[in-house]
Amino acid sequence: MKYSWNVAQEVLSVAPPLQGAFREALQDFVFNGFTIPKGWKLYWSANSTHKSAAYFPEPQKFDPTRFEGNGPAPYTFVPFGGGPRMCPRKEYARLEILVFMHNLVKRFKWEAIIPDEKIVVDPLPMPAKGLPIRLFPHKKA
Ligand code: HEM
Repeated sequence: MKYSWNVAQEVLSVAPPLQGAFREALQDFVFNGFTIPKGWKLYWSANSTHKSAAYFPEPQKFDPTRFEGNGPAPYTFVPFGGGPRMCPRKEYARLEILVFMHNLVKRFKWEAIIPDEKIVVDPLPMPAKGLPIRLFPHKKA
């Protein structure tokens, strides 16, 4: 299921379910020439990190192959965060996503009922109308 997970990761990259989270600076530090004083509240953004062309060439292009080989550099692909507060259920989420994808793809073809349905972000990205689809079971041989 390596390719399926590459596809899922690309979805998590283009539309991270959690846009980012807050941190507090434990000490003064300099980032990109800006001095961040101890105690400041910071927001790290998965969404804008994944849009960095330096790490994700053509970031708007849907390209699961970018996860082949070693994949993106550490701390650039962060849908589950990074470091000590990283999502503790990342592997469970991976299993659930892959089981869902496997069953959907193996058992059905489908078509979207609303073509080009908009994605709204409030605060999680969601299809505006709930992504209604029509399922067609594969014919049994
Ligand atoms: C696609 C699915 C998921 C995504 C994208 C996701 C994403 C994240 C992210 C980005 C964080 C870090 C927030 C931060 O740095 O402050 C986080 C933390 C957390 N996640 Fe997930 N998560 C997912 C699924 C789950 C599931 C299925 C569970 C539980 C069954 C879970 C439980 C938690 C908990 C308890 C934390 C807090 C960890 C801490 O603060 O130490 N997550 N998640």
